[in-house]
Amino acid sequence: MMDKRGQFSSKIGFLLAAVGSAVGLGNIWGFPTQAASNGGGAFVLAYLLLAFLLAYPALMAELVIGRYARANIVTALGDLGKQPHTRLLGKAVGYYGVLIASLILSFYAIVAGWMLAEFGQPLTQLIGWHSAAQWLAQESILRNLIVALVFMALTIWIVARGVEAGIEAWSTRLMPVLFVILLGLIVYVLFQPGATQGLRTYLVPDFRQLTDPALLLSAMGQAFFSLSLGVGTMLIYGSYLRKQDSLPRLGAAVTLMDTGIAFTAGLLIIPAMYVAQHHGVPIYGEGGELLAGPGLIFQVLPSLFDTMGTAGVGLSIAFFALMSIAALTSSISMLEAPVSVTVERTQLQRPGAALAIGAAIFVVSVLIIFNMETLFGFIISLTTEYSQPLLGIALCIFVGWIMHRNHVLEELKAGHKDIEHSVFWKVWPFYVRVICPVLILLAFVQSLRG
Ligand code: PFF
Repeated sequence: MMDKRGQFSSKIGFLLAAVGSAVGLGNIWGFPTQAASNGGGAFVLAYLLLAFLLAYPALMAELVIGRYARANIVTALGDLGKQPHTRLLGKAVGYYGVLIASLILSFYAIVAGWMLAEFGQPLTQLIGWHSAAQWLAQESILRNLIVALVFMALTIWIVARGVEAGIEAWSTRLMPVLFVILLGLIVYVLFQPGATQGLRTYLVPDFRQLTDPALLLSAMGQAFFSLSLGVGTMLIYGSYLRKQDSLPRLGAAVTLMDTGIAFTAGLLIIPAMYVAQHHGVPIYGEGGELLAGPGLIFQVLPSLFDTMGTAGVGLSIAFFALMSIAALTSSISMLEAPVSVTVERTQLQRPGAALAIGAAIFVVSVLIIFNMETLFGFIISLTTEYSQPLLGIALCIFVGWIMHRNHVLEELKAGHKDIEHSVFWKVWPFYVRVICPVLILLAFVQSLRG
């Protein structure tokens, strides 16, 4: 089985794929709007603290287990324990993780489909396909189904091609484009009237809001969601990493880039909202809160682009290309989690597995599209707010209590010779064993009581 496993061809290949997984709709849309409506700079601070204190150690747990086991999450966790019951527990946690990855993909594909529609609309308009543009602009169940299907088909196609030719190749092509578009848009927006007020709302902290327990859960959920944790995607990417690469450094680079891009995206989204306000577009909801949900992305920003004439058309295409790329490099990592389990544990080949699992997940997307009111919000909070942090605890416990300490050390040493004498090795093992699970649990209980 070993020889048919894929592998990233280089450190940078891994980095772009892992950052591609981490940087998604959560960074560009979720993070800035949560920050703006939850105390600005105070939320940014809480998020950064949680990302480095809780999410980074948990990310390291996934990378260590993945590269040590060189296997998918089910096999990796199932093989860590010595006793039958710990092995069974490992498998159960692994299957739960890939189930959650699949459920995340089921709603993510719907939202990503909307992004594709918004991207295609000005483009089709530009080349004179007016009826196509009109169809894309009109919100309908059929349109939502088709654009989600197109997005899912792209995801399946990339995952079917494999680790190097699919995931790595496409992350390496798309991520630099994402960086360039993001920076270009920020420079443009920051020079527009109204932008400074947006910067103020985004960055000036209102610490009173930090005592709200619900906020803590959102910030933690956001940190775990943003780093794609708990569901086996980082674990499987870690398993495709070469032995000579340093895990703590790569993990830190992924965390830094992910939080950096989330922060940077805030410099685009929030000022853009205030530029829109300057153009007469309403940006507050009925209760006086800043619009954050679909209203922001699909009404405020498009109305802003509309007021900008020809420049607006270009901006709109660039912005929704950015969103679609961010979504795609994340969705391939979500699909890879169940596909890797299937390919490594059954006789099914990768293309067949990708197609079958992608199709099954799309069926769930269809169910959600037909029951938006009841299912959409429910699946999002079940997966991202509850399951991801709990799975994070489980992974910390596996690496801290079940995996042999010598094996952990050997795995880290493989790419980092003097790790034993580093601060990382002095702090992390105890931290991931005790502090991390307790802190995640506390934040969790606190929020449930609140
Ligand atoms: N990290 C992605 C984002 O911020 O949008 C979402 C995500 C990707 C969650 C992969 C889970 C996952 F397995």
